[in-house]
Amino acid sequence: MALRRTRSPGIRRLMGLLAAGLLVAAVTGVVKLGEPHVPTLNLLVLYLLAVLPIAVFWGTPLAVVTAVLSVWTYAYLFVAPLHSVLVADAENAIGLGVFLVTAVVVGELASRLRRAALVAKRLSDEQSALRRVATQVARGVPPAVLFTAVTEEVGRLCDADLARMERYEPDGMVTGVAAWSRVPAHLAVGERFELDGLSVARDVRDSGGLVRLESFAGASGAIAREAQALGIRSSIGCPIKVGGRLWGVIAASTTSDTPFPANTEAQIAGFTELVATAIENAEARAELMASRARVVVTADRTRRQIERNLHDGAQQRLVSLAMRLQTTQAKVPSELVELSSELDQLAGGLTDALDELRETARGIHPAILAEGGLSPALKALARRSAIPVQLALRAEPRLSERLEVSAYYFVSEALTNAAKHSHASLLTVSTNIVGGVLHVQIHDDGQGGADFTRGTGLLGLRDRVEALGGRVTLDSPRGLGTTLMAEFPLTDS
Ligand SMILES: Nc1ncnc2c1ncn2[C@@H]1O[C@H](COP(=O)(O)OP(=O)(O)O)[C@@H](O)[C@H]1O
Ligand SMILES: [Mg+2]
Repeated sequence: MALRRTRSPGIRRLMGLLAAGLLVAAVTGVVKLGEPHVPTLNLLVLYLLAVLPIAVFWGTPLAVVTAVLSVWTYAYLFVAPLHSVLVADAENAIGLGVFLVTAVVVGELASRLRRAALVAKRLSDEQSALRRVATQVARGVPPAVLFTAVTEEVGRLCDADLARMERYEPDGMVTGVAAWSRVPAHLAVGERFELDGLSVARDVRDSGGLVRLESFAGASGAIAREAQALGIRSSIGCPIKVGGRLWGVIAASTTSDTPFPANTEAQIAGFTELVATAIENAEARAELMASRARVVVTADRTRRQIERNLHDGAQQRLVSLAMRLQTTQAKVPSELVELSSELDQLAGGLTDALDELRETARGIHPAILAEGGLSPALKALARRSAIPVQLALRAEPRLSERLEVSAYYFVSEALTNAAKHSHASLLTVSTNIVGGVLHVQIHDDGQGGADFTRGTGLLGLRDRVEALGGRVTLDSPRGLGTTLMAEFPLTDS
């Protein structure tokens, strides 16, 4: 690609001719200067200086024209008979012939070298662009970022004026997901289009394969109108297939009269595979998140159900048994001391059983959480802790149930761990909401050494938090206590 394709071939050829003329004139000037001192035939070789650049930048045909022009000018100005293109002397004629052949051969070699260099550069540009995109895919950047990056890489690599990525919607429309243009232009990203007229997206959808549109002239439809408004002459498109289904399309367009080279579609195809991989990864991640969230929600619902069953069933029955026992105790004549003390013992046992049941129910699902929200539930947890707990709770609004339950269990497990493993003397629990994120932190001043891989409690917590799109960090250096922190995004939960 010697010059940008946006120039039309006619103009390019004209510029080549002009350059050839100027170069030949310049060399002729030099030959004229040298003429008094050197046999002019020796200076003929200087015209290679005109032929070579033309061969490199405009190719062999124009180089031949330049060589002929050089010989013609030389013969006209410097070879007897002067001011005629005729050549009288045989030696001169042979010299000119040899020069002409040499110039053409050298010109052809130079233009081939130039083409080979261009192909090599193109290949290496393509490889680096693919590598950049692959790195981003491997890093798992958000799809929207990747789409923009790929669209720009494709646009630049194909030397296009415009590149777009579009996604097919189930309702038959397309959405622009990324766009790039060489010159600033309003490009509809995020907008939905009908596929009613001529467009790359429609042809790709209908054919399922690569598409080349040579002209938008006179075409109808929203996308064709946009193309006309931007002065697009031709476009190519490449399908993006994800898991066998057609997901979207990458299109490159040019305002130049010269169509894209034949291998351009193949170049784009390399990128569509990377995009497909990124989309597959993102979809798999989203599915995993959703299924984790479902597992957590189902487990929480089951726990709440068990707590309710205990509360409404066994607990109620024990309470009414205790009340009947009290009534019975009241009826026992005072002389039946032994019976009376046995009933007292029974009553005490019943109360213990009831307390234990309440405690169990609370462990399964704390009713106070549903009634009062996170802060009161955490205060209740702190009161029951064997190690003193300092609270720094942000007065938060009521959060979603999933979030409150998860934050509660997070603190509950951390406090249990501290009691079991830390030998700490003081615990602190803090909550805060900053920038739409709920931060929950538990610190103990114990021995440290907590580790996700040594049990199931911390891992379960991490699953629970990540299922809500959050993040857990654990900092537990030996001898320096343990800090466990969770960040829950308040949105999408
Ligand atoms: N606060 C803590 N202080 C010291 N060690 C801890 C603390 N929390 C957890 N650990 C260590 O990390 C391991 C993993 O914790 P966890 O996954 O909750 O499992 P476990 O069922 O043993 O509590 C524990 O077995 C314990 O060795
Ligand atoms: Mg534990």
